[in-house]
Amino acid sequence: MTGIVVLGIETSCDETAAAVVALDGGQGLIRSNIVLSQLDEHAAYGGVVPEIAARAHVEALDQVIRSALEAAEVGFSDLNAIAVTAGPGLVGGLLVGVMTARAIAAARNLPLYAINHLEGHALTAALTNRSEFPYLLLLVSGGHTQLVMVGGLADYQRLGSTIDDALGEAFDKTAKMLGLPYPGGPAVEAAATEGDPNRFKLPKPLVGKPGCDFSFSGLKTAVRRAAEGIAPLTDRDIADLCASFQKTITEILDDRVGNAVQMVSKSPPLALVAAGGVAANRAVRDRLQAVSAEAGIPFVAPPPALCTDNAAMIAWAGALRLQAGHDSNDDFVPRARWPLDESAAPKLGHGRKGARV
Ligand code: KG4
Ligand code: ZN
Repeated sequence: MTGIVVLGIETSCDETAAAVVALDGGQGLIRSNIVLSQLDEHAAYGGVVPEIAARAHVEALDQVIRSALEAAEVGFSDLNAIAVTAGPGLVGGLLVGVMTARAIAAARNLPLYAINHLEGHALTAALTNRSEFPYLLLLVSGGHTQLVMVGGLADYQRLGSTIDDALGEAFDKTAKMLGLPYPGGPAVEAAATEGDPNRFKLPKPLVGKPGCDFSFSGLKTAVRRAAEGIAPLTDRDIADLCASFQKTITEILDDRVGNAVQMVSKSPPLALVAAGGVAANRAVRDRLQAVSAEAGIPFVAPPPALCTDNAAMIAWAGALRLQAGHDSNDDFVPRARWPLDESAAPKLGHGRKGARV
């Protein structure tokens, strides 16, 4: 294999992941991408339990790394660097990944890159869709909701982020309230297909206001009140609540992303890129497509498996850093909170899956 070959490791939340990515002549190639989900271990609790996550990473990581090397048909001696997620996320899990990466790097005398998980999401479209910089990124997952102008490697300007719940978290909490299974996003989307999106009028926090921050906690409370008002709920009620919730979300995204496009109109992005688990939602994608069309830029959504947490994005960020001559940083201490744009003012609140900013 020619070019730069990097092993990536990701353990910041409830996925144990390892991947091998090659970078040759500016082009990235995913040689392997192994993601072991801990969904079953956490499902009974309706969310991620940090201690269970850390223990599961310890048990699975060695084998996941072995599988990633085997699938890529490489050995440790073919690698040029190791890249590992060092934050933001659940510290127990991060420590498992960082200690393992550090051990491999020391034993094999390889440079180690401590990668910000959000940088992985931010750079994915350049790997999967060869998107050119700058682009406007909407990252909507269970732990994060932010709009970021991605100018290139290590060039991130956060335009807005949530001041309370992450969007995926709002889907998950809504699902839980309505008795739907975890993770809530796909369950709410499925229920919504049968529902009337206009039956319930729900609030759209911050919509119409300047800027592009997000707020979802008032919306979640409104769904609960509406549900309590008509309890006991029939299947039709649940479908109507899900459809109304989802429609409201798309309207909020429309307003916020529209404002972000205006905010960067002096040096407009070349595309709108979506990432994170919520970007798998059809209604969300359709609405973002419409917003992009209005702004006159293409809409790019990487394949769902690379929108959600994975190690290929971490390996890719490491490969770009190695190629750009960045120093390795193997003395890095894992961080629960680690803003992508260090210059942006921190937002308050802890996410279910760690920090949101
Ligand atoms: O990116 P991800 O896999 O993990 C992190 O949170 O980092 O995102 C998971 C989140 C969950 O909150 C899940 O409910 C949401 O993404 N999600 C969806 C859909 N699929 C996953 N939300 C709405 N519609 C979906 N189809
Ligand atoms: Zn993520």
